[in-house]
Order: sequence, then structure tokens, then C-alpha cells
Amino acid sequence: MPRQASTPMAGPIFDEPTASPDPVQFKIAHPSDTQLYKQVQNLLTKDVVAFTKMRGKPDDLYSLESALGKPGPAAIEKITSAKKIVFHAGGDSGASAQRNLAHELSVADQITLDCHSAADPDRPRFFYHLGDLVYNFGESQYWYDQFYDPFRNYPAPIFAIPGNHDSFIVPGTKSASEPLKIFARNLCAAKPNITAEAGSLHRTAGTQPGVYFTLDAPFVRIIGLFSNSLEDPGVISNQSGKFPKVPNFQIEYLTAQLQRVKKENYKGALLLATHHPPYSYAPASSGSGGNHSSSSEMLFEIDSICKQVGVYPHAFLSGHAHNYQRYTRTVDFGAKDPYDVPFIVCGDSGHNVNPVVRPKKGEPAQDPGNGIDVSYLEGKKTGVKSKGVLLEKHDSFNYGYLRISVDAQQLRIGFHQAGASSLPQSRFDMVTVDLATHTMVSN
Ligand SMILES: [Fe+2]
Repeated sequence: MPRQASTPMAGPIFDEPTASPDPVQFKIAHPSDTQLYKQVQNLLTKDVVAFTKMRGKPDDLYSLESALGKPGPAAIEKITSAKKIVFHAGGDSGASAQRNLAHELSVADQITLDCHSAADPDRPRFFYHLGDLVYNFGESQYWYDQFYDPFRNYPAPIFAIPGNHDSFIVPGTKSASEPLKIFARNLCAAKPNITAEAGSLHRTAGTQPGVYFTLDAPFVRIIGLFSNSLEDPGVISNQSGKFPKVPNFQIEYLTAQLQRVKKENYKGALLLATHHPPYSYAPASSGSGGNHSSSSEMLFEIDSICKQVGVYPHAFLSGHAHNYQRYTRTVDFGAKDPYDVPFIVCGDSGHNVNPVVRPKKGEPAQDPGNGIDVSYLEGKKTGVKSKGVLLEKHDSFNYGYLRISVDAQQLRIGFHQAGASSLPQSRFDMVTVDLATHTMVSN
């Protein structure tokens, strides 16, 4: 461990043939990041990264069926006849220190158990990772301890959009060791192969077509965008020259994907995903929220394309802020009833959990409560007609993940806390959206 070169395989492999006990320590000791952070602090707000175009055309879909290899057609048939699909999502899983390993394992083990214990129609079919797989910053030698080993028994594909920790380049990093290249080697391979990062484990590299891509599965389509390497905000384009290094591929891509949805009159659930959250809580008065802020310009760009094409997603998923936050944005999109769009942050899948409001010196954090109007988080301009934003529910303290199920009529997004003994008890929150009307349904 690790292997010196990649090992080609005839088809994808997801888990180990025999389950093994949880590791109790890293194989490669991870030094403290304090010095590294001091060194790069002033770059975290300005050093964006370039990336390559995804394989294929901007309106291409990457199917779950193709990701599954030879068993793909039979698996899709099973999902179709069950009349619904279930999958997991979550972000910020990487344990950057030995002391956090148990937290990462608590989430990874719970979703793995879910795959093994759920009755077949309700069995999760994949994990959609919302970024920040490996800290700090995405070095090859930490992939085994932070990604492959914790998820070694997860028996399904893992798809991912990169987070800032999977892409920020520490000055002096050799070109071949840049985090995004390692991410691409492990998630965006042309063919299944076991990479050096997997060590002695068998999960093959993912074959998604790029760091941004659209996953197409029965009942659901997820448009994933790479929101680049800054701590804040998320950046998906060069923003009219503000970030010259960032290519504009994703503008063309998002436009093409939404046009395809429109042209096909796609009836399934349409989700958008970025690592950086469009909204992350901060009080209106002081502006001092949790560890991350909203990415208003990114949302403005996305909204503007949605408006131009005439297609709006049913929900928006993101990570980055290490907690759970669920917003409802009400959007007048010209339909009889305004759309209720859940904007969900789930960035507590293993790395850390931070409260949505930071405590001030000598005072406890002022929890905002649930169901409050946070329309001010929209910022100065909106790309669509927003009728307001509510912070519906949040969790500042628990690790967790999303369990999402979609059928022909409804999208249901549940947030589950890690550590609960069984599934119904682990569910902390749930939102249901009617697909035809984009309106919220009471649970
Ligand atoms: Fe992040």
C-alpha cells in the first residue's frame, strides 16, 4: 500500500468482498494543518483554480446505468419496477485528524448499513458526495484514510463534485500532485481501474465525465457544478473577468443541460448541486454567522440561466458549511402557484460540525430558531423573482447525511443524524416536493 500504478478492471467494483472492522487509526499520519493554514490564509479568498472540460458534449448525461457496468440494465429495471429511487447525499466527510475519524466512520457506517438493511425497493442506490472528500488539501496520500477506507463497505457507486479542499493548490505543489488531478483520477476515470490511492482495497475509480457533470438515474437528474477552491464564495465562472483563471465551460454546460430538460419535457426530479451553499445563515443585524457565508453571485448566475431557459430545479443541494440547514425559497416562475424550492446545506458528513452561529467571546452562540424569515440572505440582486427565503430547520450539533427518495410524483429529502440506532429514529427533518407543481407537500 499504496499500489504504484492503476490496475485496469473489467467492470466497476464498489465494496470489499468481506466486510472488515473499522480502522482505529490512519495508515498515514496526518500532521496538524495549523502551519499550512497560516501559510495559505491570504490565498484562500483569492486563489481560484483552472479545470478541464468534462468529456463529451455540454448536454450529455452520465447515467447511473453506465456507472454500474454490466449489472446496470438489471439494476435499472429493479428501480423502475419499484417505482422509486432512493439515494444518499452529504458533504465534507474527510477526517483531517485522527480524532475525527470516528465521526466520519459513524456516517459512512450508517449509510453502509442502510444499503444492507433496507428492503429492496427502499435500498439506496448511490451516494452523491457534495465535496470536500479529502483534507487538507486533497493530497494523494490521504485518500486512503479519508475516502477509500471509511467507505470500503459501501456497496454502491459514489459520485462527487469537488469541494474547495479537493481543489485548492498549496503554493509549491507539483503539477502532477494538484488536488483536482487526484480527484479526477479517482472519480472521473475513463474506465474502471483501481488507483494507487485505493491501496489494497477494491473500489474502482468512478467514471463520471468530469468535475462537473449531470447524473441521470430513473426519476431523478442531478446537475452538479464545481464551485472552485475559495473558502468563500463559490465561483462557477470567470464572472466577467474577475477570475480570469476560471473557464466558462459551466455556463455553456448549465444552459445546455437546462435546455435539454425543457426540450425533453423532462418530468423527473431536477436537482442542482454545488459544494458552496447559495445560502448559509448569518443574522441580519451583525452578519456574523457560522464558518461560511452565502454565495450570492454564484446563485445570481445560476438563476439568470434558469430564467433565460425557463427551467427551475426542484431543489438545490450543497455542503461546505459544517452543519445542516434547510431553507425554502419561494420563487415566482410564472406558474399558477409560486415554486417552493428547498435549498439544503448538508456539510456535516464527517469532517466537523460547527454551529450556524459562532459563539462570541464569553457568550453562547445565539441560535436563530426555526422557521424564520431570512430573505435578506438574497443579497442585493436576484436572478429570478424571489418572494422570500425561510430558514425552516437546522442542526448545529450532529453529524449526518441526506436520504433522498423520488418517485414519479414526489421528491422527499430527509436529513438523518449519525449515531441513531435505526433509520426512523435517525431522521431529524424531511421535506417533500410535488414534482408537477414544485410546491411543498405537508409530510
Ligand atoms: Fe468546503
